[in-house]
Amino acid sequence: MTAASGPASIDRLARSIARCRACRLHEGRTHAVPGEGPPHPEAMLIGEAPGEQEDLLARPFVGPSGRVLDALFQECSLSREDLFITSSVKCRPPKNRNPKTDELATCKATWLDAQISALDPPLVLLLGSVALRCVLGPIGRMKDLHGSVHSYRHRHLLITYHPSAALRFPWARRAMQQDLALLTDMLSSNPSDRASGRE
Ligand code: URA
Ligand code: SF4
Repeated sequence: MTAASGPASIDRLARSIARCRACRLHEGRTHAVPGEGPPHPEAMLIGEAPGEQEDLLARPFVGPSGRVLDALFQECSLSREDLFITSSVKCRPPKNRNPKTDELATCKATWLDAQISALDPPLVLLLGSVALRCVLGPIGRMKDLHGSVHSYRHRHLLITYHPSAALRFPWARRAMQQDLALLTDMLSSNPSDRASGRE
């Protein structure tokens, strides 16, 4: 374990995120939402941006998208307690508009990259096309890429839809169910190996 990893570091990041003013999204927030989960999660989930409920409670995925995500976790035998859940930007965009490219770049460079280093998750799950663009860039469309596994900073990365799509479209819910079942398989066949020196 490096000096920069571990619980102290992820907690310190959360306290700094709460005060961040690095992009214009701080102007409209009630609370920043750093994310939550164990300091050594089995996987790290990255969504899009906090919504109304998240902004009020300072917790990730506690609104309608969170409820569908919790239902999918249950169907796929995943527990929220084993996962670190966050979003691409930590502050709610005005009227839930999509985060802009510069906001995504600033929040990733300032916080998301540091969170990935501190948590050192064996697996990253991208939820939706905004997280996909934020983390991997414009590599393709969600309908072609969901369910695919990539290598990202010496760890596995899996792509799926955003739960808000599952909320609206039964086909997206079915696709997410398959992708999360794959995540469950990967977690059971690849127990995390903290001595592997991942970055
Ligand atoms: N959507 C996200 O991407 N993140 C949240 O925390 C809530 C909804
Ligand atoms: Fe800072 Fe990210 Fe919030 Fe922008 S969205 S103010 S970079 S925490």
